[in-house]
Amino acid sequence: MQAYLSQNQNRFLDELLELLRIPSVSADSQYSNDVHKTAQFVAEKLQLAGADNVEICPTDGYPIIYGDKIISPNLPTILVYGHYDVQPADPIELWDSPPFEPIIKDQKIYARGACDDKGQMYMHIKAFETMMQTTGVPCNVKFMIEGEEEVGSPNLKTFVLNNKKRLSADVVLVSDTSMIANDVPSITIGLRGLSYLEVEVTGPNRDLHSGTYGGAVANPINILCQMIASLHDENNHITIPGFYNDVEQLSATDRQALNNRPFDLDEYQKHLDINAVWGEEGYTTVERVSIRPTLDVNGIWGGYTKEGAKTVLPSKAYAKISMRLVPNQQSDKITELFTKHFQQIAPPSVKIKVTPHHGGEAAITPTNSIAYQAAVNAMTTTFGKAPIPTREGGSIPIVALFEEALNVKTILMGFGLDSDAIHSPNEHYGLFNYFKGIETIPHFYHEFTKLSQ
Ligand code: BES
Ligand code: MN
Ligand code: MN
Repeated sequence: MQAYLSQNQNRFLDELLELLRIPSVSADSQYSNDVHKTAQFVAEKLQLAGADNVEICPTDGYPIIYGDKIISPNLPTILVYGHYDVQPADPIELWDSPPFEPIIKDQKIYARGACDDKGQMYMHIKAFETMMQTTGVPCNVKFMIEGEEEVGSPNLKTFVLNNKKRLSADVVLVSDTSMIANDVPSITIGLRGLSYLEVEVTGPNRDLHSGTYGGAVANPINILCQMIASLHDENNHITIPGFYNDVEQLSATDRQALNNRPFDLDEYQKHLDINAVWGEEGYTTVERVSIRPTLDVNGIWGGYTKEGAKTVLPSKAYAKISMRLVPNQQSDKITELFTKHFQQIAPPSVKIKVTPHHGGEAAITPTNSIAYQAAVNAMTTTFGKAPIPTREGGSIPIVALFEEALNVKTILMGFGLDSDAIHSPNEHYGLFNYFKGIETIPHFYHEFTKLSQ
């Protein structure tokens, strides 16, 4: 296997670069053709790698790629999930090289999707190819690769519910998260949930002269800012009544374990060019981004924002708001609490509209399972040290859905780094990480098969 990996390294890289050249931005309909082209590319490569029953399954949105290799009904089945869509490249002017013209610099691949998730997803196809060509695939495997993850997977639930049998598996394997560092391997055992919504504040029925009316008519932007500011108190707790009701409280031991992972606050601040961190009182930075729920404005706009000045009291103001959730909180319930509270705190001088976008539930992976042990063994073999369990702040709503619909747990064996700038300008993925992933994944298959017997 090792020989095959080193002999084919260059081709594995070239193929990923080709995949990264197709701008599969699911959020922007301008790229619709490219997203479909990417689906074709992935299906083709999956088939070439040796998968059977490869199908580009249409949905009401972008297609889901399915493919499998069934060795024997007596062997366990791994379901591999990943996504071929990427985030928009904006703000494009902040990229040092064009986002869809991948380059290698300092041993890293720079391109939108290099890490999230084309690079990490493609490792699985190459790992599968490697097994097919060398050791053989030791158990059954099914692939499900979607193209709408970055827009909240609006058609995935229907697909999963309609294909329960086809997708049945003993474990789901996902590489769409990060590790602590290249020499500190880790496995993600918790992800946060999400409630994402948009608010619209309406004042007067049209934009007004800010001199004629200013001071007498509510300015929706001023009001929106006040309302948003009031959503955190002086300790940076969220003020929405009931928001923390269902929050899972960790024991002192569990918190201690979480905080035992290597974390350098100075380096963290330096890396982000900030002089101080911010957050909920009573919790460490590691806790704030993993086991605590949050509320953030993702975008805010209204009024005149072009060149020069225009004296205007705008009619409307808008904001996009995300809340990261933790185990036991329910996305729909939190959306409802937010909506009720936001209506309640609005002064009578404005009207409020809240539009929910998408959401998802938090997820936890048990560490006492065969699958988790298989992941630990696989990483220990290829990294030369045991991985540390961590909880991450991002969300992959499909994990909770797999558990609910298919009754199967997920292993989050990601190979990215927090510093890979996913969703940001200059996203990148280390060559080390790409090749290490391809090398580690077959070990998971073999360990999982062995431990299942
Ligand atoms: N791969 C990320 C999730 C992620 C990022 C997990 C970092 C752990 C660490 C995924 O593609 C993503 O961006 N998810 C979205 C949620 C989705 C519903 C749009 C997110 O977390 O914002
Ligand atoms: Mn992702
Ligand atoms: Mn993402």
